[in-house]
Amino acid sequence: MINILVVTGSVRSDRMSARVSQFLSARIKAGGFRATLLDPADVALPLLDRMYKEYTPGTAPAPMQAAADLIVAADAVLVASAEYNHGIPPALKNLMDHFLEEWFHKPAGIACYSAGRFGGVRAAMQLRATLPEMGMPTISSLLPIPEVGDALAEDGAAQEDWLVGAADRFIAELAWWARAAREEAARSGPPFGG
Ligand SMILES: Cc1cc2nc3c(=O)[nH]c(=O)nc-3n(C[C@H](O)[C@H](O)[C@H](O)COP(=O)(O)O)c2cc1C
Repeated sequence: MINILVVTGSVRSDRMSARVSQFLSARIKAGGFRATLLDPADVALPLLDRMYKEYTPGTAPAPMQAAADLIVAADAVLVASAEYNHGIPPALKNLMDHFLEEWFHKPAGIACYSAGRFGGVRAAMQLRATLPEMGMPTISSLLPIPEVGDALAEDGAAQEDWLVGAADRFIAELAWWARAAREEAARSGPPFGG
């Protein structure tokens, strides 16, 4: 079964990211895929000092090791980003920067959200540049969620009809690329190191 890792986009006490991750995980499962969750609030990494790979194997702090295991086990990554001052939230970027080879060769989808009408697309455009640099080709579609507080209830339930269909198409596209990448990696190995 295709395993899609949802990476949560913020850590504020009053954050909307929890409902976005819940919504996406539910749609991933509804599509017949496995959803796992990587939440910077759970991992609580410090501002970047040492990357995971700088630790001798077996000596990384337990939360960092757990995050590495989640990333390595994923077939695809769905980054669900808020938009802070037209950019990527620092907690999300800090979490991602702790890892490199662990992300390699995993197709990535970018979901984004905001309180405003643009749905976080300016942060998504930054992720379009960052994720490929980390070895993750991003799929063509985006999933922007504008006015997120109205679009999703606290438990992650969609409050607008268009959102479920849009999420399902987006996730199906990501799963297609994940299957293709997994099959090709099994046939010919990884395209570059990692
Ligand atoms: C530091 C900060 C910067 C923000 N900058 C933007 C922005 O550039 N564009 C926007 O549409 N919303 C912006 N907002 C509003 C967010 O879209 C809204 O608070 C959203 O819920 C943030 O995601 P979070 O709740 O998961 O932290 C900003 C919010 C914060 C806290």
